[in-house]
Amino acid sequence: MNRDPLIALRPWEAPEVTSWGRLPMCAVDRRSGALSLDGEWRFQLLPSPDSPVTDAWGTQTVPGAWTLQDTDDLPQYTNVRMPFDAFPPAVPAADPTGVYERTVDVPDAWAGRRIVLQVGAAESVLLVHVDGRPVGVSKDSHLAAEFDLSGVVRPGERATVRLTVVKWSDASHIEDQDQWWHGGSTRSVLLYATDPLHLADVTVRARPDGGLRVDCQVRTADGALPAGWYVTGKLDGRLLAQDAEFDRLNAEDDRVSDFLGEARLTATVPDVRPWTAETPELYDLTVRLHRADGSVADTSRHRVGFREVEIRGRDLLLNGERIYIRGVNRHDFHPLTGRTVTYEETRADLVTLKRFGFNAIRTSHYPNDPALYDLADELGLYVVDEADIESHDHAHEIADDPRYLNAFVDRVARMVLRDKNHPSVVIWSLGNESDYGANHDAAAGWLRRHDPTRPLQYEGAAKRGWADPAVASDIACPMYAPIEDCVAHALSGEQTKPLIQCEYGHAMGNSNGTLADHWAAIESTPGLQGGFIWEFWDHGILQRVSDGRPAGRAGAGLYDNGVAAPGHRWAYGGDFGDLPNDGAFCADGVVFPDRTPKPAMYEHREIAAPLRLECFRHEGVVIRNHQHFRGLDWLRAEWELSLADGPTLTAPAELPSLAPGESTAVRLPFRLPRKGGEAWLTLRVRTADDEPWAPRGTEVCVPQVRLRGPSAESPVPVPGRSVEIDEVGLLVHPLLAAAPTLTLWRAPTDNDELGGTAGRWQAWGLDRLVRTVVEVRRGDGPVTVVSAYACEAGAVRHEQVFTAVEGGIRVQETAELPPELLDVARVGSVFETVPGPDLLEWYGRGPWESYPDRAAGAPVGHHSAPVDELFTPYLRPQESGGRHGVRHFTLWAPDATGLSVRLDEPRQISVTRHRAEDLTAAGHHDELVARPGCVVHIDAAHRGLGTASCGPDTSASYLIPPGVHHWSWTLRTH
Ligand code: GAL
Ligand code: MG
Repeated sequence: MNRDPLIALRPWEAPEVTSWGRLPMCAVDRRSGALSLDGEWRFQLLPSPDSPVTDAWGTQTVPGAWTLQDTDDLPQYTNVRMPFDAFPPAVPAADPTGVYERTVDVPDAWAGRRIVLQVGAAESVLLVHVDGRPVGVSKDSHLAAEFDLSGVVRPGERATVRLTVVKWSDASHIEDQDQWWHGGSTRSVLLYATDPLHLADVTVRARPDGGLRVDCQVRTADGALPAGWYVTGKLDGRLLAQDAEFDRLNAEDDRVSDFLGEARLTATVPDVRPWTAETPELYDLTVRLHRADGSVADTSRHRVGFREVEIRGRDLLLNGERIYIRGVNRHDFHPLTGRTVTYEETRADLVTLKRFGFNAIRTSHYPNDPALYDLADELGLYVVDEADIESHDHAHEIADDPRYLNAFVDRVARMVLRDKNHPSVVIWSLGNESDYGANHDAAAGWLRRHDPTRPLQYEGAAKRGWADPAVASDIACPMYAPIEDCVAHALSGEQTKPLIQCEYGHAMGNSNGTLADHWAAIESTPGLQGGFIWEFWDHGILQRVSDGRPAGRAGAGLYDNGVAAPGHRWAYGGDFGDLPNDGAFCADGVVFPDRTPKPAMYEHREIAAPLRLECFRHEGVVIRNHQHFRGLDWLRAEWELSLADGPTLTAPAELPSLAPGESTAVRLPFRLPRKGGEAWLTLRVRTADDEPWAPRGTEVCVPQVRLRGPSAESPVPVPGRSVEIDEVGLLVHPLLAAAPTLTLWRAPTDNDELGGTAGRWQAWGLDRLVRTVVEVRRGDGPVTVVSAYACEAGAVRHEQVFTAVEGGIRVQETAELPPELLDVARVGSVFETVPGPDLLEWYGRGPWESYPDRAAGAPVGHHSAPVDELFTPYLRPQESGGRHGVRHFTLWAPDATGLSVRLDEPRQISVTRHRAEDLTAAGHHDELVARPGCVVHIDAAHRGLGTASCGPDTSASYLIPPGVHHWSWTLRTH
């Protein structure tokens, strides 16, 4: 039997024990001036927490997860299910336990001071010993734990700190978020000292009318407070004084003890610059605690934003304005270090979000690294701060289990106590996917009393009734609700709360179809205010292929543009031999694991554009300021006039001065040339000056309007010349390695797979159509080839008419789909070129990938890109690289020869180095072998992407009906 009292207590199977010896959480930041204990620690991994510690020490870097630092305990990915079978609060006997140890030289200068150890994060139970003596216990893996070491260590002497981190515990059952499981001490560890007389907490309330209230809690190490202490404050140079009335009331109140000091600073700041996500104005506040003689005992610094959140009716208001929430769910994530993220990395995340038009983050599903909140304050992002509670697998049992009551309240309270002073935090969340029970109501009760200044939300409660006033959610915050359901609720007359989806637009693989339709509904329906895309990150861990191990910090730089370097890959569930696992479901973000934005990000950027072009009237175009709080003066722009059969003209644009929401018509800087065909007017909008999140000249959006529609092309047949067709009815052409044939299939996307459509395609046999020639009709002029494509669901009749036209060949195609084929991936032609072409030029949507239901962010124009860069390297290979609304394209070889295709109307195309079956066969990007030629798809129709891997499929209008499809195109060589 282990005699250590902390071990003997077995806190890892005691949900009632949330901590022992831990100091209360507060909002006083002690990071500056502290002694950092980050770096190398002695380390050993025990098979269970009660196994004896041995002499076999290795090392580990703190902060960090041991699962990513060369131990045999590797990462495991599960979504809903727990990685082990035990029923809460039990855990398996095999319970990896990391013992971290190091010595610390406690500074001499700390004599007489109060000394505190702060452990930033430990997953999932932390036991602390100093010099062999038990000091404390903590749970709540994503919030810091502090322990008072004043009576334990001696200034001027060396102390040995041991952190024992137990991986599986009762707490794991309420930390069952959809992400990798790790073990370790994953945020910074530090030691600091204060005067025994110290600021135990500071609560700042700052309103946009300039009202400022700062409440200070003052404590001394032990015993009653010394007489005569007082506090002062300074806000951007303005002195604040202690509120005498507050003091008088306290003095008269005999319930206020001499042990608990409270003081209030108040002020009204004139002409305050309010904080909003668009205008993140911050003021510096310094709070000082003085001894009776005026000397300073303690100081606390804060950045204050004057702002107010309120719900009025069914609107969420910021500073009285109804705002849209253009949010994303974000995990603390890094492909090398797991949940350990640096300030710079977090900043890069937030900068990326700002550049792509996001204005909000839900810290799914736990309080994030403290840096996130500082940066959100500074860069301007609204935050839904979420407590670390997700009991997904055993949600129903735990929600009402009184043994977990304390943990629920504790986790919510500690988050609020830490983050309450951040202007960016506008909403609290009780957690995620934990059903709804008394434990939630208890936490909500604590929260509403403690912080009446912010609404709270909880999806599990909201689900019980979006309009129900009794449930613990001030916001109707569903996940993945179909657009129609949201609109219907808003129109029902029954809506009582703002509707802001806590998750929508599941970004797994090639996804985020219908994002623009969501926003069209949101912006046209009072009561709908936005939502949070699921999610920011693709959680691929960089893995060495040779030994299957995580690359860890040694992998720095071994990736680029979303792709892992040769010999490496982005691992997802199962790749570490982890069982059970949920495969690639963790790769569902709008950025790749190296933060390279996926094409869906550009769709979002355009939807969120601060400036809109609305329509074309009388030689003019209407510009609207689509922001809530800012003018257009931070932007500069340039007009582009792009002609389908002509050049792109540019001209400087003079942006009008418009208040938020205002619009005005401006005259066009061009006369529309009579020639050149279809014409689009684009406004390329950039930052006029450096913004904290973007250097001057960063592109912000590219709104456009069509000035003139396409004119039909009718190629002129060349009499007497015929097209060469072989005996099985296939086109023979010197630049084609494979002749154009019919295809109805695409390499299933994650949405196709998980939403079930891919299974239907497979059952129908769309991936293995068998072609037979029915008839080849040759004459003087066109050659007609009729084929039948057989599959399990019936035969598809396909006709191609080949005509020699000026400069090339015209191909007119017809496909007749039987009624059984009611939802195919595409109807189109596929052919392959000989090796050579490596550059694509096109007129259509671009430059990035676009699909029928994700095309709003890709402006129509002349674009070009190397063929190898057209493809998007989604972690699990799938249909990718499509370009929507293409009118014509040319494939160039380096020797300036090439082939071009002109389409009868704007069509979906793709040019890649991979056949659909190549993509389907590969599990990871590194398994793909590029073909020497180009695989070219021209689609008469292409199914929308939707988001069915988790949530609604695409809308009916983006499905392909059975029946007759016609398309035609002209192939020319250069
Ligand atoms: C939600 C959940 C997220 C994630 C997502 C699917 O239900 O809250 O954590 O699992 O689905 O990727
Ligand atoms: Mg879950």
